[in-house]
Amino acid sequence: MPNRSPNAKDWDLRLQKRKMSGQQAFSYVEKCLESYKHVFNPDILRDKVVFITGGGSGICFTITEVFLRHQCDAVIVGRNVERLRKSADTLMKATGRRCLYYQVDVRKPQDILNAIDETLKVYGRIDYLINGAAGNFLCPLESMSYNAFKTVIEIDTLGTFNTSKAMYERYFKNNGGVIINITATLHYRGQALQAHVGSAKAAIETLTRHMAVEWGPDRIRVMCVAPGPIADTEGMRRLAGGVLPEALTQGIPIQRIGERVEIGNVCLFLVTSMAELLTGTVVVADGGSWLASSNDFAQRSKLFTSVSNSSRSKL
Ligand code: NAP
Ligand code: COA
Repeated sequence: MPNRSPNAKDWDLRLQKRKMSGQQAFSYVEKCLESYKHVFNPDILRDKVVFITGGGSGICFTITEVFLRHQCDAVIVGRNVERLRKSADTLMKATGRRCLYYQVDVRKPQDILNAIDETLKVYGRIDYLINGAAGNFLCPLESMSYNAFKTVIEIDTLGTFNTSKAMYERYFKNNGGVIINITATLHYRGQALQAHVGSAKAAIETLTRHMAVEWGPDRIRVMCVAPGPIADTEGMRRLAGGVLPEALTQGIPIQRIGERVEIGNVCLFLVTSMAELLTGTVVVADGGSWLASSNDFAQRSKLFTSVSNSSRSKL
């Protein structure tokens, strides 16, 4: 039996955590912004179409909203069709634009191809692809199962490849387009308890450069947006129990975490003609967080234990 760290039994709460995460993710109903201030022309995306993986929830729900508020039409895809339906309905009511939804597991290329074909039948075009589908949980390498690591790589990295390649084959190759891959900053410093996601996002940032080089001549720009901690998201609920402790917030140069709408606005900028010189690059949108915040394994372990304990009390 290998030596185990003093905290090892805390890591074995993973099954309880998984159960809790599933319950939260599937019962949460998304809400639109109470108000939105247009900086760009509100018409700037009129009659364009955006296809967003993971658009049924969290950051990608709000990216979708920002695009719709600029007269785009949208398609959101994910596995939970009931949540997608509710989210599409909410988005259409709030913005007056069209939002289709399809059940897609980004690990299954045929699901993606079917959704793209259906989208093209309805809208006749797709201008932007946003790869936001992802999976995450806190876990030290020591107790991460082989399948846990593989699962995150399959959703994040292979999911991004599968969706981008399907989009290229079906439409972008002949029509051009913009691809935005949502990554993170976890891999820049080897964030504790995040080896699986850090590895997956690092691969996506590398893939982005390859796609930008090979597909640039086809008038396709490919970029990443790397958010830091973003309020009111599943990511924050899983990684910090929902609210970042004040001591950690104070470590962020801008003294606060980000808002979902700020990531939506960055993505909006990247698809406009103002960003036509940008491709193969990563826009880090984190208020300087990764440069300055602590990455101490012992401290992160305490956070993990407290998140696990609060999860257990909700079971
Ligand atoms: P979220 O609401 O849980 O978004 C993840 C989405 O991915 C969900 O809508 C989920 O929908 C979808 N998804 C998961 N597995 C899928 C699969 N196999 N096939 C298709 N869709 C799948 O979490 P979030 O916190 O807003 O995160 C959104 C993105 O931002 C992620 O890429 C995340 O890594 C990144 N990010 C978040 C933060 C943060 O602070 N929250 C920080 C940095 C980066 P279904 O369950 O319906 O499939
Ligand atoms: N800690 C450690 N391991 C975990 C875990 C956790 N909290 N949650 C899942 N796993 C492991 C499982 O035990 C399993 O490994 P095993 O077969 O060796 O036991 C493996 O990961 C796959 O889990 P499974 O539940 O079958 O995968 P899934 O494909 O149904 O779900 C997840 C994928 C695990 C990423 C799930 O959390 C999810 O759907 N996430 C989407 C939402 C999300 O993560 N949002 C945040 C984005 S930042």
